[in-house]
Amino acid sequence: MKRIVIASNNPGKLREFREMLAPLGIEIVPQAALGVPEADEPHATFVENALAKARHASRISGMPAFADDSGICVAALSGEPGVHSARFANDVPAGASREREDQDRRNNAKLIALLKGQADRRAHYYCVIVLARRADDPEPLIVEGRWHGEVIDAPRGTSGFGYDPYFYLPEFRRTAAELSSEEKNAVSHRGQALAALIARLREARVMGNE
Ligand code: IMP
Repeated sequence: MKRIVIASNNPGKLREFREMLAPLGIEIVPQAALGVPEADEPHATFVENALAKARHASRISGMPAFADDSGICVAALSGEPGVHSARFANDVPAGASREREDQDRRNNAKLIALLKGQADRRAHYYCVIVLARRADDPEPLIVEGRWHGEVIDAPRGTSGFGYDPYFYLPEFRRTAAELSSEEKNAVSHRGQALAALIARLREARVMGNE
């Protein structure tokens, strides 16, 4: 399984997945390149959304599909924005990266406004990855990762994407946007989930049931 369709068009996520999977000789093909439209993400849990996206991409492309669903869960907001992280502020048409950056800016502004005067700044990023060998795969691989940090009021750093400039890691004394992509991938929610997926794929190969 060397070519996998990925059910995401988010350039930040695609870059991170590509960097992490390239050493394994796995090429990920964005679903847009195969004419697969974005699936709905109507569910209340990350895992249901990821499964829906993977099935949709596999059904339309006829290829094994890889989907992740992720977000930032803020303790003082009872876990919000959570599954609503991508469009927390409001809806904008999917499209160019300029629009995505605008959406990120609005999301961050809303988050910081909601946390004004709030002492409890704990938050974590969550990521679940689903790998479906086919649309009706009865045993999709499902792995997850969590990355704990704190939301700060003023942005720091320019790398990463989304909420990264406001996501502060006490152990690094930096935000996620101040880490190099290697540093982020080694510890992030997505990096943890992907490491678990790679371990599961290796295990499946050893068992001969890939
Ligand atoms: P998804 O495409 O539905 O999984 O939406 C994930 C959203 O959560 C992104 O658009 C970001 O707003 C946020 N998010 C997830 N992972 C990260 C990350 O590593 N850094 C910053 N924001 C993230």
